[in-house]
Amino acid sequence: MKKILVIHGPNLSLLGKREPGIYGKQTLEKINKDLKDLAKKAKVSLTIMQSNHEGEIVDAIGNSRSSYDALIINPAAYTHTSVAIRDAIAAAAVKTIEVHLSNIYAREEFRQNSLVAPVCVGSISGFGAESYYLAFSAVLSLLKIQKN
Ligand code: DQA
Repeated sequence: MKKILVIHGPNLSLLGKREPGIYGKQTLEKINKDLKDLAKKAKVSLTIMQSNHEGEIVDAIGNSRSSYDALIINPAAYTHTSVAIRDAIAAAAVKTIEVHLSNIYAREEFRQNSLVAPVCVGSISGFGAESYYLAFSAVLSLLKIQKN
């Protein structure tokens, strides 16, 4: 069974309450439940974590090297600042998809640069919670798993 890891970065545990005009009303719990349902249907194993700590995220990516087939990551604010997370993705050599709820390219200038984008297979940005489901679908395609 293929194994997928989803990493949610800082402040994403507050989804639903946090700036809903930008990030939507969907809670992280609901997104995670939907992803679990999709994983069950596709018969893949899914692990989900959320962390506000850069080092913890770096550790999780590093550990994914031999244990996961693909990674979906919303690095949140670390997208724009973390060379460490970018280097961890490059070092892990696990197929990685970058996700953002908001369209980072339509926001403040400091959000328009993603340090992780160049080391990811691709990025999905701007579709709210749907960004995660699109990323999941992209992962299934990458891993050549048939979608139901
Ligand atoms: C975000 C966009 C980031 O700029 C921001 O810091 C976040 C969330 C998104 O999903 O739209 O925390 O990654």
